[in-house]
Amino acid sequence: MKVRYLGHSAFRIETAGEVILIDPFLAPNKEYDFKNDNISYILVTHAHSDHLGSAVEISKLKGAKLIGIFELANYCARIGANTVGVNLGGWINLPFGKIMFTPAFHSSSFADGTYAGAPCGILMKIEGKTLFHAGDSALTQEYKTLAELYDIDLAMLPIGGFFTMGSAEAIVTAKWLSAKQVIPMHYNTFDLIKTDVEAFEEGIKREGITPCALCYNEEIDL
Ligand code: NI
Ligand code: MN
Repeated sequence: MKVRYLGHSAFRIETAGEVILIDPFLAPNKEYDFKNDNISYILVTHAHSDHLGSAVEISKLKGAKLIGIFELANYCARIGANTVGVNLGGWINLPFGKIMFTPAFHSSSFADGTYAGAPCGILMKIEGKTLFHAGDSALTQEYKTLAELYDIDLAMLPIGGFFTMGSAEAIVTAKWLSAKQVIPMHYNTFDLIKTDVEAFEEGIKREGITPCALCYNEEIDL
């Protein structure tokens, strides 16, 4: 599969048969145009606008299924999205593999203040690999449990601080997850989350984990 960084916490995963977006906040990315992409699924960790992003618009335009926590999905369905409402802890079987929403230590509401259910991370088993997108979480012992149960090949972790874990806590998270490879996210999009990504990379290298900071629209094979 191919994993492409779309900026902030947004990713595009291309499997043999499907294109999946995660947290499609695409405003900072001037190059990627979802209108020309064959998206079939959109996974949303929580309802904050820098994660929900263009999810509803993409779902309406492409007929792509927007998958998110029950309250988030219901709200998006009311404004026209094609949704699947889920909750924490269950595997959801999909044509490209299976996914599970896991707890994130954060908050979640829509721009109008509507409660959006639990904020999440997303565990994904795709084509024999296990991927984990942490959403906007703080550091939490939960990650030790995930490592006990799952062999994580690639983790996408926020490092920008202020609203989420920062670089130092993300290094601990990477270690606790026993992730083989880590893509940093949720940094440098705006001033409050300005972060020295090279210091993060040095830090996780010292833990024996491969850092993989991607530029916007850069892609790796997994
Ligand atoms: Ni958030
Ligand atoms: Mn955020």
